[in-house]
Amino acid sequence: MEGIRSDFPPSPDTDVGSPSTSSECDVPCVFSGPKRIFHPFSSKKVKNDGKKLIMDDYILVTGGAGYIGCHTVLELLECGYQPIVIDNCCNATCDGVESTPESLKRIKQITGKEVTFKYIDLLDKPRLLALFKEFKFNAVMHFAGLKSVNESIAKPMDYYEVNIGGTINLVECMKEFNVKNMVFSSSATVYGPPVKLPVAETHPVGKGLTNPYGKTKFFIEEILRDLANAEEGWRIMILRYFNPVGSHISGLIGEDPQGTPGNLMPYVAQVAVGRLPILSVFGNDYKTHDGTGVRDFIHVVDLAKGHIAALQKLSEIEGSKAINLGTGHGYSVLDAVKAFERASQRDVPFKFAPRRPGDLGCVYADPSLAEKLLNWKASRTLDDMCVDLWRWQSKHPNGYKTEPNGNLKTS
Ligand SMILES: NC(=O)c1ccc[n+]([C@@H]2O[C@H](COP(=O)([O-])OP(=O)(O)OC[C@H]3O[C@@H](n4cnc5c(N)ncnc54)[C@H](O)[C@@H]3O)[C@@H](O)[C@H]2O)c1
Repeated sequence: MEGIRSDFPPSPDTDVGSPSTSSECDVPCVFSGPKRIFHPFSSKKVKNDGKKLIMDDYILVTGGAGYIGCHTVLELLECGYQPIVIDNCCNATCDGVESTPESLKRIKQITGKEVTFKYIDLLDKPRLLALFKEFKFNAVMHFAGLKSVNESIAKPMDYYEVNIGGTINLVECMKEFNVKNMVFSSSATVYGPPVKLPVAETHPVGKGLTNPYGKTKFFIEEILRDLANAEEGWRIMILRYFNPVGSHISGLIGEDPQGTPGNLMPYVAQVAVGRLPILSVFGNDYKTHDGTGVRDFIHVVDLAKGHIAALQKLSEIEGSKAINLGTGHGYSVLDAVKAFERASQRDVPFKFAPRRPGDLGCVYADPSLAEKLLNWKASRTLDDMCVDLWRWQSKHPNGYKTEPNGNLKTS
């Protein structure tokens, strides 16, 4: 997941998050009785067709073992949905094809609920079709994909194959089984260099994209828009994330980059915990208050709740709708480092390095459409993000491979 080019300042297309509350569902779920949701995308039924049970009303979560996916799975469970997770574990910790990814085991620890998991690669269309035969999905949340900017520059074809090919396979299966409700993980990267701040959904997209990863997000958006325009019945929420940071308040799940982190905050956390010696801050001559790049950091739990809000509003849209998920506040790299030092009570040594090509000076969202359409607003602060990230990182210096004693698992 990593490359030579890490992201300080992170460009919004990389994939750079206290909960002040518990993980109870606090997006507006509509309950028709205790613990039962009355909603076209959430009811729980089991039908008997005479021969075998057909399980109804599941939410398929692709890439649900990953960082954002698993936080969203947790929120789905808290809201009473039945997520079915698929993942090929190329970027998730898993003991083997038969075993449940570590992130999902932790979710059971937090919620007491079992998550159905299938080890499926999106490129394996026969297995994907078989899954759609087995479960009657109401909607799909599509997180799975490759997400490293640096890696995408080195291996563009992998990115086009997995991100675009995988999405096409998924959409073809959805079509075959008449599942036309989707929430897709896009990125603020589709905006390219901002011509106006804050960046609203009306900002031009697809211009000035400098890496294959970002282009795959833009191309997938275009594919989904074309599909929704061409055929009736599709309802697709395209969520453009800004910079997700942090972890669940339990400190049991979090971002676990393989290799050197490609994004700012996981890197900062690894410097604080002693895994990395020093942070390089690329560029201190941007036109920002302290010269370092400015980004819109959003707590991953707020982001996950934004997905639930989008799912619940699918029935109110027709076609496709792109929506920003950000806070609307820009913080510089140095602001973020200082916030992390406050949260962790540790020093984060850093040095300035020259700007890198492709990095942008200042990007932050106009989040007003999400508030209007989804009735959703990020509520967690940068300090919350840092406190929660530090809780995860300090408990798990080696990510999910950490033994209870803090050491690295050997097997
Ligand atoms: N994290 C960010 O900063 C960020 C920002 C904007 C957009 N996004 C997008 O959000 C989504 C989730 O991001 P994340 O940070 O949770 O990433 P992640 O890598 O932690 O999660 C993605 C998951 O997808 C799985 N996966 C990859 N290829 C697959 C395939 N072919 N078949 C099945 N599973 C596959 C991986 O194993 C991983 O568990 C991605 O699409 C990413 O591009 C992330």
